[in-house]
Amino acid sequence: MMRHLISAADLTHEDAVLILDTAEEMARVADRPIKKLPTLRGRTVVNLFFEDSTRTRISFEAAAKRLSADVINFSAKGSSVSKGESLKDTALTLEAMGADAVVIRHHDSGAPHRLATSDWIGGSVVNAGDGTHEHPTQALLDAFTMRRHIGSGKDLAGRRVTIVGDILHSRVARSNVHLLGTLGAHVTLVAPPTLLPVGVESWPCEVSYDLDRVLAGSDAVMMLRVQRERMNAAFFPTEREYARRYGLDGDRMARMPEHAVVMHPGPMNRGMEITAEVADSPRCTAVEQVTNGVSIRMAVLYLLLGGNESALSAPAEPRATEENNR
Ligand code: NCD
Repeated sequence: MMRHLISAADLTHEDAVLILDTAEEMARVADRPIKKLPTLRGRTVVNLFFEDSTRTRISFEAAAKRLSADVINFSAKGSSVSKGESLKDTALTLEAMGADAVVIRHHDSGAPHRLATSDWIGGSVVNAGDGTHEHPTQALLDAFTMRRHIGSGKDLAGRRVTIVGDILHSRVARSNVHLLGTLGAHVTLVAPPTLLPVGVESWPCEVSYDLDRVLAGSDAVMMLRVQRERMNAAFFPTEREYARRYGLDGDRMARMPEHAVVMHPGPMNRGMEITAEVADSPRCTAVEQVTNGVSIRMAVLYLLLGGNESALSAPAEPRATEENNR
């Protein structure tokens, strides 16, 4: 296993399956009355968040705590970053505190890569979303969710996944295209031409402008949020027009195959890319994706910080477990 997780594109098929299988083991811990393993006792995980986040930050925090690591949460707001402190000086401070892993979310694409290739820190770097580039743990938790619903014997080879909406600004879409490609799934992107990135033709997927045409052949339909905070121009005429052509409502959902699921990474713009009826329907896995995110992040932290055998194989020392749950 590699030392850092920067991009889903760096994962081999073997790495990806190891993470997904380890996450299955971690998910079993969540079903126990005491949801904690002593595995990362004495290790420190820093959550370094330069951009807003709800799900991802608390998910990494829950994951690290379930593995008994010490967790330091750092958010740029209210820190010396707002006084102009650089990424380098922030990283040197974290290194001085003895961080074994730094989970970083940054508005600049490439910031986690910069950190991982610098000599500023000695620990592992995990990308929790960088600009419009990548969000590898989101793609992993999406694949984990798909394996449970539409995988044949956990295999996603040949499954058809449709990703709809603001592809241009979506690090979730990029990471999913890479990971699903590695796992052998067929991906179709659906978006207005203005919300597709330049060079999308070279991505390992198909592109369509017609949602209704691809719905009937999809095993999973992933809806993306329209990322207004990253838009500096008008990318579509009106919200109503966008919702009419690219939003998922009850009528469209009814045209999906019976076994197919609706996914969304959150946060959702209800009424825009997804109606409340669809978001709240039992076919929508958005809340389950959040639950699965904790198992995936446990697996990633466990594997990066040195786990090389089955996470649950070593019997937990009872004293240590008690100590950690006090
Ligand atoms: C996504 C993100 O931050 O990239 N959300 C998430 O991590 N759950 C998608 C988004 O912000 O729309």
